[in-house]
Amino acid sequence: MSTTIDLRDATRLPVPIVRSSGLSRTFGALVAVDHLDLEVFGGEVFGLLGRNGAGKSTLIKMLTTLLPPSEGTARIAGLEIEAQAADVRRVIGCVPQALSADGDLTGYENLLVLARRYDVPRREQRLRIGAALAFMGLAEAANGMVKEVSGGMVRRLEIAQFTLHRPMVLFLDEPTVGSIRLPVAMSGR
Ligand SMILES: Nc1ncnc2c1ncn2[C@@H]1O[C@H](COP(=O)(O)OP(=O)(O)OP(=O)(O)O)[C@@H](O)[C@H]1O
Ligand SMILES: [Mg+2]
Repeated sequence: MSTTIDLRDATRLPVPIVRSSGLSRTFGALVAVDHLDLEVFGGEVFGLLGRNGAGKSTLIKMLTTLLPPSEGTARIAGLEIEAQAADVRRVIGCVPQALSADGDLTGYENLLVLARRYDVPRREQRLRIGAALAFMGLAEAANGMVKEVSGGMVRRLEIAQFTLHRPMVLFLDEPTVGSIRLPVAMSGR
């Protein structure tokens, strides 16, 4: 059993791991995402830059099945985001823009909650949590209450949370909140 986090399994897929076609979202008269065609292949790190309000979070919410598109569609690992939403959720991880870890739990407990939510086999939970904490440089902070650690540490903890189930695609909305530095294995091809 591997004790490191490897997000590169998707490199074997012959099709784009993320493909959108004419993906759009409006809020009344406001066009937040306008007919976006996107292809991202397995193993790629794809960065989306845009001014505040440009539509980045709206796009991520559609790709992670939290928000239905107004028009167009997308596939994640070949799965259609509306028709196969539950299957899409199983193969992705998503760290949302707003800090989401539970401040009244320890770092370890936060990871355990996610391990259970994603059905990580019970016998593997401890090992995977330990590996994820070590990978994000959080081994020392695992037993502290989350509300007592810095914003950057919370962000690292959240990234650890959403890699526990070995997602094929990891979405990070504003990953540098708290000015974290991603480990090398996650920051390039
Ligand atoms: N639920 C909503 N209802 C109405 N308008 C919304 C909703 N969600 C987003 N918007 C609008 O859609 C546009 C895109 O917002 P979005 O949050 O996707 O931008 P962003 O690129 O993520 O911005 P930021 O860099 O500030 O995080 C904005 O004008 C925003 O006000
Ligand atoms: Mg945003």
